[in-house]
Amino acid sequence: MTDRELSELAKRRGFFFGSNGVYGGTAGFYTFGPQGAALKRNLEDAWRDRFTVRQGNSEIEAPTVMPEAVFEASGHLDGFDDMLVECATCGDSHRADHLIEDATDIEEAESLPVEEIEELIREHELTCPTCGAELAGEPVEEFNLMFETTIGPGSGQAGYLRPETAQGIFVEFPRLKEYARNQLPFGVTQIGPAYRNEISPRRGIIRVREFTQAELEKFVDPERDDPPIGEVEDVKLTLYPIDEQEAEDGDYVDVTVGEAIEDGTIESAWVGYYLGVAKRWFRRIGVDLDRLRFRQHLPGERAHYAADCWDAEAELGGNWIEIAGFSTRSDYDLRKHEDHSGEAFTVFRQYDEPKTVERPTVDPDMSVLGPEFGGDAGAVAAALETLAERDPAAFEAEEVTVEIDGEEYTVDTDVANFEVETVTEAGEHVRPHVIEPSFGVGRIVYTVLEHAYREDEVDGESRTYLALEPGLAPTDVAVFPLVSNDDRLTSLATELSADLRAEGLSVTTDDSGSIGRRYRRQDEIGTPFCVTVDRDGIEGDGRDTVTLRERDTAAQIRLPIDALDEELSALSGG
Ligand code: GAP
Repeated sequence: MTDRELSELAKRRGFFFGSNGVYGGTAGFYTFGPQGAALKRNLEDAWRDRFTVRQGNSEIEAPTVMPEAVFEASGHLDGFDDMLVECATCGDSHRADHLIEDATDIEEAESLPVEEIEELIREHELTCPTCGAELAGEPVEEFNLMFETTIGPGSGQAGYLRPETAQGIFVEFPRLKEYARNQLPFGVTQIGPAYRNEISPRRGIIRVREFTQAELEKFVDPERDDPPIGEVEDVKLTLYPIDEQEAEDGDYVDVTVGEAIEDGTIESAWVGYYLGVAKRWFRRIGVDLDRLRFRQHLPGERAHYAADCWDAEAELGGNWIEIAGFSTRSDYDLRKHEDHSGEAFTVFRQYDEPKTVERPTVDPDMSVLGPEFGGDAGAVAAALETLAERDPAAFEAEEVTVEIDGEEYTVDTDVANFEVETVTEAGEHVRPHVIEPSFGVGRIVYTVLEHAYREDEVDGESRTYLALEPGLAPTDVAVFPLVSNDDRLTSLATELSADLRAEGLSVTTDDSGSIGRRYRRQDEIGTPFCVTVDRDGIEGDGRDTVTLRERDTAAQIRLPIDALDEELSALSGG
């Protein structure tokens, strides 16, 4: 199925369409229509069930606008850039790495340095997609993707729309760890909007400027890489590790989660665990597993915070598209927020038995630094004290170095003459590492729609339908009176719809057009069951009956109305 066919179906049937059409549209913004919003909500609920509830994680809801300080600390102000080339002729901007990927067989151009991108533009004589002018010689620039705003009136305070939901979790860590009673591991999830001022939004809802993320930040003990692996050990994965991508005839590695961790193909057991959990979840929501792979990021491709990353990629319209990422963020974010805020982003881990340790004491005004020291001596003392708590052995070297707001300060241990005192400690402060499964909900909606798309023939007529998983489809059941001009049929259909709604099902009714056309309409939005009320059913022997039609087979059975509930829940696996 092509992108165009999918977006036409999406628009025709109310899944999604470009926003603000009456004002000419706004590139990169999409509205989910009635069917799309329902499907998206069902997918979010399925994600919540799997990644929050069943895992014993907790969910929060943080603001989408955050002050500049957050992104200064997180590194997004400096490092959240894409490569932009502007056409001197028409003034349109384009993503330089995408132009190269489209024109050459280079797959991950974003991992290349700017100079190489400029060289490739020259070498391949690339032209502007808008006006066709040559781009050779145009400079390639780094463009920050965050939307900036002002908090409060006047010049106010600089703020940004969050580019990932994750930061709303990280900044609240000092509070969240209290709710988790300082026990590692613990996980916090969030489902909500994220914003990126993409240079070239494209492929419908695949690359947009406002999208929904479903993210889990799992805070784990850096010394214990021990997820409950038994749950997913035997799940088979199709992996595409760095080595295979770099090899000339590189191929996929088909292994179980357990094997991939055992042989080191996946370095972190926690990441391996989540690839297994995600693979099962993708199957449950109807992703075609033959069109799903996990690709490891090449070193140059990783986000500024990631030590390693595996993407779940789905094959969509012949291309592999990232739909979720599984990053090892190490202690990067917590360390940065600790450095910038001065708050402790650690948990206190109690020892089994109290320990006696030798610890250097730090002179609080660090007068040893002398008048020539221009920095904040108190801040240096505080940083040295933290270091003394965490790593007393560091003071055995000739020099110790601490970092404050990105600046490094080195102190000669002989000159500083740190005295050692013996203390008894009940535990230690540990900065957790973060393992992050991060899903783009819009891309998953797209994948589920494309992978569910089917064409076949029913009664000699061709039809298209969406084989959406029951429970995820926007509508559970459609109820029709066979004809619209029979009051008895329409009122029975209305009554039946109300009964089914009261059972918690999502029900639609439709009495316009032939019954065949009404079936086709429901097929195209993936409604698993249609119920038709006809005269034969209510003029029989007193026990009213209806016809139940199943979407994928188009098979119909007649059954008593009072058996409908049970039959529907049995058929939908409820
Ligand atoms: N917190 C980690 C993070 O944000 P990411 O790989 O940049 O990682 C996670 O984004 C997911 O969000 C992606 O796998 C993708 O599904 C989705 N996503 C990212 N940018 C997007 C965009 N411009 N439009 C739609 N979805 C996007």
